[in-house]
Formats: sequence, structure tokens, C-alpha cells
Amino acid sequence: NGEEVSNGISVKEDVNNEPNDKKENKQNAENTQEDLVKVTTKDKEHTQKSNVENKTKTQVETNNEVKKPLLDHPTVHIDVKRDPKIQVARLKLPILGEEQRIMELVNENEFLIVAGETGSGKTTQIPQFLYEAGYAERKMIAVTEPRRVATVAMSARVAYELGLTNKEVSYLMRFEGNVTKDTKIKFMTDGVLLKEIQTDFLLSKYSVVIIDEAHERSVYTDILLGLLSRIVPIRRKRGNPLRLIIMSATLRVEDFTENKRLFKEAPPLIKIDARQFPVTIHFNKHTYSDYLKEAYKKTVKIHTRLPEGGILIFVTGQQEVRYLVRKLKASFPYRKDVDYSKLITRKAANENDAALDSEPEDIDSDDDEVEKEMKRARKARRKAKLKAKALPKINLDDYDMPEDDGQADLVGSDDDSEGHLSDSDIEDDTLTPEIKSCRQPLWVLPLYSMLSSSKQARVFEPPPTGARLCVVSTDVAETSLTIPSIKYVVDTGKKKMRVYDHVTGASAWRVVWVSQAGAAQRAGRAGRTGAGHAYRLYSAPVFAHELPAHHAPDLCRRPADDIVLLMKCMSIDKVVNFPFPTAPDRMQLRLAEKRLQVLGILETPEKKENKRKDDEEVLKVTPLGKAVSAFPLLPRYGKMLALSHQQNLLPYTIALVSALTVPEVMSGKAECWPATGQTLLLGDPGVLLRAVGAAEYAHVKGEEELFCAKHGLREKAIKEIRKLRKQLTTEINLSVPGVDVKIDPEMKPPDENQARLLRQLVLSGLGDQVGRKIGLDEVKEGEDKRKYKYAYHCGELDEPVHLHSESILRKTIPEWVVYQELYETGAEERRKMVMRNVTAIEPEWLPVFVPQLCNLGEPLTDTEPRYDEKSGRVKCSFKGTFGKACWELPIVEID
Ligand code: CDP
Ligand code: MG
Repeated sequence: NGEEVSNGISVKEDVNNEPNDKKENKQNAENTQEDLVKVTTKDKEHTQKSNVENKTKTQVETNNEVKKPLLDHPTVHIDVKRDPKIQVARLKLPILGEEQRIMELVNENEFLIVAGETGSGKTTQIPQFLYEAGYAERKMIAVTEPRRVATVAMSARVAYELGLTNKEVSYLMRFEGNVTKDTKIKFMTDGVLLKEIQTDFLLSKYSVVIIDEAHERSVYTDILLGLLSRIVPIRRKRGNPLRLIIMSATLRVEDFTENKRLFKEAPPLIKIDARQFPVTIHFNKHTYSDYLKEAYKKTVKIHTRLPEGGILIFVTGQQEVRYLVRKLKASFPYRKDVDYSKLITRKAANENDAALDSEPEDIDSDDDEVEKEMKRARKARRKAKLKAKALPKINLDDYDMPEDDGQADLVGSDDDSEGHLSDSDIEDDTLTPEIKSCRQPLWVLPLYSMLSSSKQARVFEPPPTGARLCVVSTDVAETSLTIPSIKYVVDTGKKKMRVYDHVTGASAWRVVWVSQAGAAQRAGRAGRTGAGHAYRLYSAPVFAHELPAHHAPDLCRRPADDIVLLMKCMSIDKVVNFPFPTAPDRMQLRLAEKRLQVLGILETPEKKENKRKDDEEVLKVTPLGKAVSAFPLLPRYGKMLALSHQQNLLPYTIALVSALTVPEVMSGKAECWPATGQTLLLGDPGVLLRAVGAAEYAHVKGEEELFCAKHGLREKAIKEIRKLRKQLTTEINLSVPGVDVKIDPEMKPPDENQARLLRQLVLSGLGDQVGRKIGLDEVKEGEDKRKYKYAYHCGELDEPVHLHSESILRKTIPEWVVYQELYETGAEERRKMVMRNVTAIEPEWLPVFVPQLCNLGEPLTDTEPRYDEKSGRVKCSFKGTFGKACWELPIVEID
């Protein structure tokens, strides 16, 4: 095989995948030529170019510069017979006019950036261009998506347009996929490709990797870009080029093009101008906090007063979508048995009138009008009631509401667990005369990540005759999916963003302002098929002063421990030097590395003699670290789980870790959960554990709400803990052979022995956060005796710390403790540092669980190492110190 000759490396997949040996051998032989230029009679232009290239190359060599040789590229053309209907629709896409330019750039370059308005055809068309140009003949075309929705939807769409099945155009994501041995184009979530790199660093199965939606800057996408910027040149050196196409909306493309760490030379950039019609932006005069009510009111106004054209409403989450869909459907019902075609004529006439003055009336100016109208409506309703002529009751079952998909919400970006919206919010008094007199129905459709793909697909279809399309969506419609025929955008200005708790690593979805760039994207959705209008439900000053220009990429907002471990697991040793598109804080990365080292998740390298100062240590992942990385938790909690497997304590540890990873579970009142002995020493985590167990029992009995209220538990936190418990249990059962953990609704509190082991597990995860009681001789008269010193290995304050006022350990004030978190309370002079979630530990456990921070001297001679028959181990006593604080450890026994 020619390739073997050229670079001494045999790429097995190549040989095996090759059906046409003869032709291929010829090609490979050509590849062995130094300049990798393929000369084919079919491609005269390239023959000429290659000569030019050869010349420049020799010239360049004397200039001591490296000139890029022309790349090898496929020359076959795959005929695709498309349905004429599809072909017509494709030709309307702006990207079709650029096919030739794009393919020339792809053929001649390894890197290419395609920036284009959403809806210009990037995702659906570029994989097809590559397929037709033969890029899927020998290897596959990979397309990564940060969202699961897009992964499924787009693979189906591309298969359909190419007239192929999901056997050839397939998708793969965690827990789901339809890839076959015949797959040519493979859509996948970015996480999946990252996993593949771990087993096949050079991605030898692929000829092209397309990173789609790069502007979303998901953690995995960012890491992929950094990795691919290094993989691609290696593949070229091996004569087996890989192309990288970065596709992005027209947002912050500079992060990729002007990033010298990522690409030494800026890759060529193609901008696709979508046929974008002008969009008029209308700001609200006031910014009301009830943005859902505002969205409803605005939509009513648009529908009842403005000409034909679809409405797209942006809200923050699944529940809000469903709430608004119900409310709008109830206001403007569509009935299958009514003929709306007459209505259409009337509407069309209206539209002609409106077209004369293309600016719709300013519907912002009369918010008070609506209030008045509502008052009038209420009055009218009271009158009507008196006449015993109640409004016809609308039966919501008449409209096909999406059922609850019942999927775990942990993955989707529009998770919504605030259950504050209910049907009772659809009050009759919102049915103003204006609404009642409007006979045109609204065809209201929901759109969010967790919606089934068939239901999502409905937004792409035209509404039934006479009805106006209205899509209520989360930010998936911002850039991932484009809905045709939208003329009006209603933008609440809000979205849900994952906010990380740096202590627990827990992420919560918070409603935040979209960025100004995001708001612009949203507005742009109104100008796809004609001039449009965007109604922002916030004021211009709010836009200017409160909306950030951009949101920081996910990677810079996440706890660094996570990122460091993830990358180390992929053998990216020097995380601080990694070419991130936007680098996270170096200091944070280094601290995280240190922390992971202390926890035994990263190796501690042996101290080298005459080590140069700038010689950075490379800390590799330990076997424990590998096990820890399997859990979707901050490493310290993953460690507790990984170790408990050996101890057969899993149900308790799962519950405990779940409780520790959700912030603010209890609002004080530890007294409700009495404890003694080992359980008392397990401290606040023990209280949490028992609270979770009891809450589960109450939940099964249907009394959770009452229970939480009575015992000062935050109900939402308890629900979140339940979700996490389920998720971790499933994951462990799937991934650890022979383990089958069940969630016991009647979990008993741990017994003495279990509680002692749990204390050790807590120490194993929090071993870098140890406190020791300040000796009595160090406490001055009249001072609080419950003070501790702490040994935080990276960042030490010479200041005492205190037990949390609600800590159950105030009863015993143990000598040695670990804590989950330190925080500051009180103003200025009364300011003090407080430990939250404290567990008592025994000092002799420290050398076992936190050996990295222990300094043990020679074994003590007066206590000879001795064999312990019961445990079958040799025990030995030492005297030593712990941590930077250099506390003297008492004599400890180590097996
Ligand atoms: O990736 P980009 O945002 O540039 O565009 P795209 O997702 O490739 O969409 C191109 C066009 O295909 C849009 O006008 C979509 O509305 C349309 N499309 C569709 O009609 N049906 C689908 N299932 C997917 C896309
Ligand atoms: Mg796209």
C-alpha cells in the first residue's frame, strides 16, 4: 500500500474500507510524491496549479519559508437524483450560489470557516456538497452539533434531500443513534466526537470534520476546535489529509480567525449573505418583570391588528413555551370543522391595504389602551354573567397539545423545573373584545429541545388555510433551526443559561438577559422571507446597559476542576497551554490541577533533581482519576462514588453525593434530625443524607410538599436531588458490571459501621479542606472556643474559621474536621469565615486518604511494625505533619 511506503504508518481503515483496490493503489502511489499533488486528466486546472506550486515550493525553500503544498482531494463526482421539489427549494438558499467557491476552498485548504446567517443553508447543504464531491467515498463526513435536537433533525433532513436513508446519513449521540457500516455522513453531538478522539486520535475514519454552530461555544466544541487545530496538520504530514470546516452564525468569528494559538495563519473565511430583508426593531417603553404576560399581550396585538405573517416568540424554557401555547390556543382556537377560507380573502384584502403603508401602526404606543380594554372586558363579562350567558368554555383537549416527553431534563438546554405556571392562569378576563371579535385562528406550535422530532418538524410545514402560524420557542430557534415565513418576532430578551456553582459543581438553569448579539439574531429571524418586525419586550436603555455584548463561552464559566480532568483524560497534558478558542483563567486552571493532585486524581510526579524552573510538570491522570471522570460530577464527588464502590456503600453514597451537589437544600433546623455516635460525627452531610431518605419516603406517599415545608427543606432542591440520584444510579448500573443499585424509598439511616465508612468517603473527596480545632492554650479568655484553623493547600489565610451556626457538630466540636465550603459572613468588623457542611474525621485517616499532604517520619521504633491477625495486615506507627499548616499528627497507624 502506497500510504505505508510514504510515511511508514499503515492506516488500517483505509485499506479495509477500500472497495476499488486498483484505482486506489494508483492514487496512493501518487500520494507518495513529495508534494502530494494529484494529477488527473480530469482536472486540468489543477495540473497547472501543481506546476506553479512546485516552482514556488523550490523558491520558497531557499527563502527558508514553508509553503503549503496543494492538498490531495477526491475527484470523483457522485450523482444525486433529487426530488425536483427539493431541488427548487434548495436553489432558493443563498448558499447554493456559493457551492463552487466553497468547494474550491475546501479542496485547496485544510481549514475553512463558513460564517452565514442562520437559515442560509450551511447545515443542510455543505454536507451535501462534500458528498457530491466524493468526500464520503473513502472515509466519512463528520458533522458535530452542540444540541441533540439538531443532530437528529439535520441528519434526517440531509438524508431526505439526498434521497438516501438513515443507513447512509445517520446520527450518533449519547444513548442513541442509527449509524451503520454504510454510513457516509455522520451527524453527532460534539461530545461523541470528543470521545472518539480518545480512542482514535487522528480520526482516521473521516475525510472531513464539520464543526457546526461553533458560535455557540459549547465546552466540547471549544475543546474539539483546539484539538483539531493540531490533528489536521498531523494528518497532512502523514499524507492522509483531514479537512476541518468551522460553521458559525455571523457572531464573533474573530475568535477563530484572529486566534494565533489556534491557527498560525488565519483560515480562509467565507461569508454567506442570506437574503435578509430589513427588520424594524421596536423597543418597549417599559421593561416589565412579567415578560410572559407581556409576550402574550404583544402577540394578541400583532395577531389582531397586523397583516399576515408568522409570529415567533422567544421565551426561556419548556414550561413557559407550553404555557404560552395553551394560552394563545385558548384565545384564538383553530377548529377542524370550520372553513376559514372566507376569512383568508378578508385578510388578504387587509394585507393589501397594509402594504400601502408598509410600516405597521406602532403597537407599542397603547399599552394603556389594552388595560382599558381589559377593564371593559371584565365589565362586559360581569354583565354577561348576570344575564347568565357565560362565555363558551374552551375545551383544551380539542387541540393536540404536546404530551410530556417524560425525558430526563438534565441534558437539554431548556430544562425548566419551576412549576409555577398552571392552566388556571388562563383567565377569561384576558379574552378582550378584540380577541373575541378576531375570528382568525392562530396555529400555535411549541419548539424546544426535548420536544419529539416529529413534533418539532411541524414548524417547517405551512399552517392550515386561514390560520396564522405562531411558534413559541426557546432559544433553539435563535440559530439552530430556521422557521420559514416568520414576519414578526416577539423577544422577551430572556434565556436560560447554565450557571455553575463552583463549590458543588452543580449547574442550575437561571433566567438571564440574552446578549445583544443574541437579541440581534432573534430579530433577524423576522426578515427571512420579507421585511419584518421585531418587538423587544424591554426598553432601549435596558438593551444598551443591561444586556451584555456577548456571553462568555461555557468553558470559561464552568468550574476548572472539571475541564482539567476532562482534558487530562484525553491525554492533553498541559492544559494551560492548550489552544482554546478563548482561554479560561490560567490561575484557575493551575489551582484546579493542584487540587486534583492532592485528591489523588492526578499523579504527583517524583521530585526531579536539577529541575529547571520553567520546566512545567506534566501531571497525568491516575487510575482513580480515570474512574472518577466517568461521573458527571465535580471530581471530588466523583471520587467519593468511585471509592464507595469498593465498600459496597453505593446507595448511601449516591444519595449523599446527590445531596452535596445540590446547593442550599436546608434552611437550617438540623435539630429535626437527631443523631448520635458515628452518625453524629458524619455531621451535616449525615443530616442531609437522612433528610433525603425521609423526603423520598414522603414523596412516595405523596406528601413531599408538606414534608419539605415542615422540615425546612427546599422542595426544588429535593426534586433536583431525586433526579440526580436516579441519573447516577442508572449510570452506575449501566457502566459497572455486576452492580445493580436500586433506590430504596425506605432507606434506613446508615448503621454505625456504614456511617464511619461514609465519614472516610467524605474525607476522601474533601481531603484538601481540613480543619483542626485551635488548642485551648491558643484561645484567649472570653473568646469563642469553637474556632478552627484550616489547611487549604492552595491559598491559605491566617485566620480562624468557625462552625456554621446550624452545624450539628456544634454539639461535640470535634478536633479534626473536613468541610465542603468556606464562606464569609458579617460586615467589616464582625466578618468571619465559616465552614459549611462539616464532618468529623480521625487524624490517622489522613495519611491514608490524603497522603499527598502528609509528611510522615521514620516508623516509631518503640512500636515495632506488627502483624494484625484480624485484618491480616501489618500495622506500623508514625509521627508526622499535615499540610502547609504543618500540624503535628498524633501517632498514626497505617496498614
Ligand atoms: O445551517 P443554516 O442555519 O445556515 O441553515 P439550514 O439549517 O441548513 O436551513 C436551510 C433551510 O432549510 C432553512 O430555510 C430551513 O427552514 C430549511 N429546512 C426545512 O425546510 N426543513 C428542515 N427539516 C430543515 C431545514
Ligand atoms: Mg445550521
